[in-house]
Amino acid sequence: MVKITRRNWLTKASAFAGTLTVGSGIGIKSAISQQRPNQLSDNMGTTSSILELIGNTPLLQLRNIVPKDHARILIKIEAENPTGSMKDRMALAMIGAAEKDGRLKKGGRVVEYTGGSTGVALSFICSVKGYPIDIVTSDAFSSEKRNHMVALGANLTIVKSKFGGMDEALTRNLIETARLIQEEKGGYWTNQLNNEDQLDSYHSMGEEIWQQSNGNVDAFIQGVGTGGSLRGNSETLLKYNPNIHTVAVEPGESAVLSGEEESSHKIEGIGAGFVVPLWKPEIIREIEKVSTNDAMIMARRLAKEEGLFAGTSTGANLIAALKKAKELGPNATVVTIMVDSGMKYLSTPQYKSVEN
Ligand SMILES: Cc1ncc(COP(=O)(O)O)c(C=O)c1O
Repeated sequence: MVKITRRNWLTKASAFAGTLTVGSGIGIKSAISQQRPNQLSDNMGTTSSILELIGNTPLLQLRNIVPKDHARILIKIEAENPTGSMKDRMALAMIGAAEKDGRLKKGGRVVEYTGGSTGVALSFICSVKGYPIDIVTSDAFSSEKRNHMVALGANLTIVKSKFGGMDEALTRNLIETARLIQEEKGGYWTNQLNNEDQLDSYHSMGEEIWQQSNGNVDAFIQGVGTGGSLRGNSETLLKYNPNIHTVAVEPGESAVLSGEEESSHKIEGIGAGFVVPLWKPEIIREIEKVSTNDAMIMARRLAKEEGLFAGTSTGANLIAALKKAKELGPNATVVTIMVDSGMKYLSTPQYKSVEN
């Protein structure tokens, strides 16, 4: 049970009401009138399920990292979801859809391959709903994510990576291992790269962005893992305004969407090493390539200059967002995503600074 203190209730409520800025003037009254409807459902200041805390995250205007002659940059704080990443949204959507049409039976097993964030989110949903879960992942991804999945009750199978990074061979190996586990043990394989059920959760995220920005979105920028979040959000935003610049971000070392060769990189969660099935090029205007090193440096800057402690893929998003903000100039608004929390990467080269 989550107790709603004045502080967290107001934060969530004002986030729902609009963009958060220091001194934004969103008063208690307007916050109350637009509070998250599910959060105070029993009128007792309690929340009945942690699943109700997924989504309705704040949209924050960056203050220090954006030069004056650039467009403003709004960033969706997805680290506020229960497991610290936007993947809680899609995991809930995939499980919900499978429950609904009978692909997942009561108490049935869930199986998935994952770079970690989807696995953590699925393990979380399965813990709440009482499904056993088998996760296939790799030493290429942070130990924090692997430990988090185990803590939530997942059974892990670890596939060794060749270079400690993500590449096509590793992705294909993870997929095949998950397929074999499902074949052997039965249950429901969510198969995220091919799972269109996840799109609904990002359609609603796009609605949040549109409402929170009061319809002020000139560009939307997001990295591509499965491609689900870029596509789902873009589909919603383009429905409101077909002129929005939609920008995909991919690792510079493995720029397959740009038609280049794949190779190993360390931006966890994006850059599968091949053109993913959910990739829909006709709705994406541009593709930005960002190297692992540049993304890591930008994530560290975000922490130091804005107090936002995020993962490497968010650093990549920010590099592309700043480039677009410079191009569009001061009257425009660029929206991107803080995909997850830096807490997931403390032991990795992204943040590790002291030996233990
Ligand atoms: C940390 C991180 N960033 C970005 C993404 C990309 O999201 P999507 O799979 O919706 O393309 C993922 C996906 O797993 C991720 O884990």
